[in-house]
Amino acid sequence: MENPSATLLRKIETRSAKICIVGLGYVGVPLAVASAEAGFQVIGVDVDKTKVQQVNSGTCYVEDAYSERLLPSLVKQRKIWASMNLDEQAEHSDVIIVCVPTPLNEKEEPDLSYVKSVAKSLSRAFSRFKLVILESTSFPGTTENIVKPILERAGKTATRDFALVYSPERIDYGNPRYSVKDIAKIVGGLDPQSTRLGAAFYESILKAPVVKVSSPSVAEAAKILENIFRYVNIGLVNELSVLHEELGVDFIEAIGAAATKPFGFMAHYPGPGIGGHCIPKDPFYLVYRKGCEQDDAPTCSVTTDVGVAEVKETGSWLDRGLVGFGLQGRGERYQEEPSLGGVEAPSEISGPSQGLRPVRLKCDGPR
Ligand SMILES: NC(=O)c1ccc[n+]([C@@H]2O[C@H](COP(=O)([O-])OP(=O)(O)OC[C@H]3O[C@@H](n4cnc5c(N)ncnc54)[C@H](O)[C@@H]3O)[C@@H](O)[C@H]2O)c1
Repeated sequence: MENPSATLLRKIETRSAKICIVGLGYVGVPLAVASAEAGFQVIGVDVDKTKVQQVNSGTCYVEDAYSERLLPSLVKQRKIWASMNLDEQAEHSDVIIVCVPTPLNEKEEPDLSYVKSVAKSLSRAFSRFKLVILESTSFPGTTENIVKPILERAGKTATRDFALVYSPERIDYGNPRYSVKDIAKIVGGLDPQSTRLGAAFYESILKAPVVKVSSPSVAEAAKILENIFRYVNIGLVNELSVLHEELGVDFIEAIGAAATKPFGFMAHYPGPGIGGHCIPKDPFYLVYRKGCEQDDAPTCSVTTDVGVAEVKETGSWLDRGLVGFGLQGRGERYQEEPSLGGVEAPSEISGPSQGLRPVRLKCDGPR
């Protein structure tokens, strides 16, 4: 008899695997569309009744040109539909991808309650071999040390009864140039078989390459590294721009000039604080993880210090009327915008459908 992993691989390769996407937000919806476009049957699950109804009526509520274009027809063809019943849909699926929120709590510690709650439900869904993929952003060790033990609670064993993978999402929502299919995907499985299954799934839906790494922790670390890189560099140019303003030097022109160097430099532009949906929060996942080890790693203190410095700078920029936003698009996601320090409600600054653009300063877009 064919082993269960080989059966699942064959189902992925022939597009007969059923895909369950848990969390129909900015990450889950484009992924559902890409999976359905590739020929898979996709079930989206969300606790938000309105989102479930909107998907089932073919309405795309996330600002993603690719999803807006394809979702209505894929729903019409019944290639995608949505449900609120995770237990039932997970049981009938072969590949389950978790895209639920991982916010920070009031102490700036990762809130993994959404991920844990989904994992608990999934632990009851392994009557046959499945692939579980976590896409939610978190610190290295989350998949192996937090998600895996919860998935095993009902008596099933990872790698024997289910494959487990971490694959970070890198979507740049509101950016029409890169759809989810155009961005290389990192895949790190608990064992080589998990990595092989995860890579086979993403290779079947993406145009971009799939990058296999040796463990879920490496994939988790890569995601946090990408966003810390952005965080530190945006913080750096913000501080330097204030210094150059005092020196009477056009710093934006200087950045453009520096960017003509063909290696070893990447242009970042100043804005009022460090914005976007993920960048302001992701470094704190690592700060938290390192804190658990009772140690003070240099990276952690650098990122924390830069963040604090930047939020202070935001206030003075607002005083001077230099208001800009790190977010592009229709401006639906303001939660992490440091530039809102002096603004009462997002409705006061809602922009035209073309999106909010910086007024005088160039701003880095979200990641
Ligand atoms: N938005 C981005 O640009 C981006 C990029 C990379 C990574 N991420 C990460 O991906 C994850 C998801 O982000 P997002 O932007 O899609 O969030 P989102 O808030 O847009 O969507 C998450 C969805 O999950 C649903 N949900 C919450 N609990 C649930 C549960 N128990 N069962 C089913 N659904 C549930 C919510 O109702 C919501 O619709 C986060 O960890 C985020 O940090 C986001």
